[in-house]
Amino acid sequence: MQITFKYIQDAADYIQSRSKIKPEFGIILGTGLGSLVNDLEIDTIIEYEKIPHFPISTVESHTGKMILGKLSGKNVIVMQGRFHYYEGYSMQQVTFPVRVFKLLGIKALMVSNAAGALNPSYGMSELMIISDHINLQIDNPLRGRNLDEFGVRFPDMSEPYDFGFIKIAHQIAKENQIKIHEGVYVSVTGPNLETRAEYRMLSRMGADVVGMSTVPEVIVARQANIPVFAISVLTDLCAEGTLKKVTLEDVLAAAALAEPNMALIFKELIKRI
Ligand code: HPA
Repeated sequence: MQITFKYIQDAADYIQSRSKIKPEFGIILGTGLGSLVNDLEIDTIIEYEKIPHFPISTVESHTGKMILGKLSGKNVIVMQGRFHYYEGYSMQQVTFPVRVFKLLGIKALMVSNAAGALNPSYGMSELMIISDHINLQIDNPLRGRNLDEFGVRFPDMSEPYDFGFIKIAHQIAKENQIKIHEGVYVSVTGPNLETRAEYRMLSRMGADVVGMSTVPEVIVARQANIPVFAISVLTDLCAEGTLKKVTLEDVLAAAALAEPNMALIFKELIKRI
């Protein structure tokens, strides 16, 4: 499906017709990381299938709701459940919500994800602030005719993750005695996890964690000049010699343990920016 400006405008108009909240922050919550919404002062919940042209989430661990409300006193729009390329969506569909957020007027995008830890000094259920990424997904959301309304054909990627936000997030982690790493996220297509040889390659390539999301959304956000903050929750260890069999249940259990810390960082960051 070729996504046009009008489709994005239709979706944004529909959302805005359902809520008086003018979101300042867009938040995308990753696998097993949806309970931040318990901290929201909820104004409106919109199921994805109600939103014109919106893809519908097919992964059971993603609940598929758009929530408008207040977090730390600020107006936010939260995606509880994101779209992944491995579900069969095009990259344009995966990133459609980010463009809708842009039209709704957000001034920053916050993203969380579950990721495998390649860096041997990282532990289970710890957090990593993403400071840079490597895109190994086989398609790019900006491929095809450029939607000039959203930005230039060849967007800059010298600061995909806002340095100012990263600095504040480190301060928040320190004040709250939260152990936090900072590193490089490599995105893969999935849905299978990686082989030992693949993990080794990704690590040697310069990545600290690996996951199946985030990068498409960040590319589209940066083209549209939206500053981004992103955090990975480490749900499995994949450094040489540490690899074990992993199930979705393991990933969800590890994510649940880390989630309160992740939520605290998002809430405080939103308060301070
Ligand atoms: N690989 C890819 N994606 C992931 C992983 C992993 O090990 N863990 C959570 N998401």
